[in-house]
Order: sequence, then structure tokens, then C-alpha cells
Amino acid sequence: MRVKRGSRMPDPGAAALIEVRALTKIYRVGVETIHALRGLDLAIRRNEMVAIMGSSGSGKSTLMNMLGCLDRPTSGAYFLNGRDVSRMGASELAQVRNEEIGFVFQSFELLPRQSALENVELPLVYAKGGWRGRRQRALAALDRVGLGNRVDHRPNQLSGGQRQRVAIARAILNKPSILLADEPTGNLDSQTTAEILALFRQLHAEGQTIVIVTHEDEVAAHCQRVVRLRDGRVLSDLPIAQDVAGRHLESVRATVASASAVAEAIAGGGAAC
Ligand SMILES: Nc1ncnc2c1ncn2[C@@H]1O[C@H](COP(=O)(O)OP(=O)(O)O)[C@@H](O)[C@H]1O
Ligand SMILES: [Mg+2]
Repeated sequence: MRVKRGSRMPDPGAAALIEVRALTKIYRVGVETIHALRGLDLAIRRNEMVAIMGSSGSGKSTLMNMLGCLDRPTSGAYFLNGRDVSRMGASELAQVRNEEIGFVFQSFELLPRQSALENVELPLVYAKGGWRGRRQRALAALDRVGLGNRVDHRPNQLSGGQRQRVAIARAILNKPSILLADEPTGNLDSQTTAEILALFRQLHAEGQTIVIVTHEDEVAAHCQRVVRLRDGRVLSDLPIAQDVAGRHLESVRATVASASAVAEAIAGGGAAC
């Protein structure tokens, strides 16, 4: 067994697969400083299916990039599978990314001139094992997402939903600890969205841990838990049933408040007469 480097979490009993503490990310563009994450805490257990929601610019993609080891936080701690990722060097981080993370993007991010099979094989370029083994694994992954009959098609010969399936096959190829999807259905119609969600649910039922960024309530409804971000912090973190109830309550309160305001205005107007 390979010994992995990187310091261990102080509490080995903690069950979280992902734990971030006081995470901050500051972008500097010219003279401007942008606080994309402002001290974010989050823990995700193995085999959870979590939706991340929040308005545009609230820090969702920044958080996903941190969780996916695509970028580093400015400060704070990130433990993935008990290893302190925030302290790792670039090559160690690349290795963690390859072994532990599967990433799915809104825009699919496939190579246009490569076939579905070649796109899926990509993460195995640096993997051990021969050419034949790689091909078999890629074919099995395409089969698993229902594209066993489209392996030689290039992206422009596939529908949007099929392209996203190729991207999902590529993401699950290395059996990642966590599958991160940043608005994976943002470019898809509602029927295709439902099909992709069914695939995520199937992967989840087979044990996959999944984090999905979405604007769509229908997508979040497939998850067990909803984390809402605002201004780079966690605004709420609730089981789906409570999140839905909370949102209804909020809209009922807003309706009552505006009805009261109207009633007061009318009463005020009446008194003035
Ligand atoms: N690479 C970057 N460089 C500079 N600013 C960025 C970068 N990425 C995101 N931002 C800024 O950080 C904030 C959060 O962005 P983002 O995480 O993309 O939000 P979301 O995904 O919730 O829409 C925004 O104000 C955005 O403009
Ligand atoms: Mg985003």
C-alpha cells in the first residue's frame, strides 16, 4: 500500500469526507480586491448528495474550485479524506485531484476533436497499467452512463445530454472520493436535466458522494441537503425538507408583510380623510 503524505486531521474520529474551516479566497484583479469566500465552514460526509445554491457571485464556483483542488484558498483549512489539502504543494495537489476528485462542468469541457472514448480516457494518461486496461475502463465508464453505443462519436456528433454523460464518465473513471458538479444541467433542457439527475442519483445509490451547484429547485430537490451561500459565507445548511419549508415560510412572511403594509397604507389613508 502506498503511504500518502500530508498531515492528518487532529480528530481521526471525525466522519467527514470533506471539511473546510474558515475558508477565505481573495482574488486580486489590478487594484481591485475581491473577497469571494469570507470564512466559510462546511463538512460533507461520505455518500451525501448535497446541493450548493446561492445567487450569482455568492462564491459557489470558487468553493467548488477549492474543494476540487483546482485552486488554493487564501487562508483556512481543507481536509479531504483526513488529509490537510490546504498545505500541499502543487504536485501533491495534482495527485490528490487525479485520485480523489471527479469534476463535471456546465460547459462539459470536452476536447472537440477527440472521440467520446478518447475524452474519457484522458484522466488515465498518467495512470499505471497498459493501454488495453485503460481502454477497457473507459469503455466500462461509457457503458455505465448509457453511451456504450456512442464511443466513437465526437462531441459535435452528440446531444447536450450525451456530452454531459461523456463528461460524467470521465469524472467517475478513477472512482473518485467525491464527484463535484458545477451547474451540470445549466445548459440542458428539462427532460435532459431529469435524465442527468437520474444518473447522479444512481451513482449516489451506488455509494458516490456528490456535490452539485445549481440554481434550479428541481435539481436541489434530488439532493438530501441544501447549502445556501451568500457573500462567500454559508447562509443556511438544511436537510432538503426543511430548506423547502423555510423557503415557503419566507415567501409567506413576505406576502404577509406586503399585505400588512398595504392594509396600513389603506388604514392610514382612511384616517387622513
Ligand atoms: N478568477 C477570478 N478572478 C477574479 N475574481 C473572481 C474570479 N473568480 C470569481 N471571481 C469573483 O469572485 C466572486 C465569486 O464568484 P463565483 O465563485 O464565480 O460565484 P458564483 O459561482 O456563485 O456565481 C465574484 O465576485 C466573482 O466576480
Ligand atoms: Mg458559478
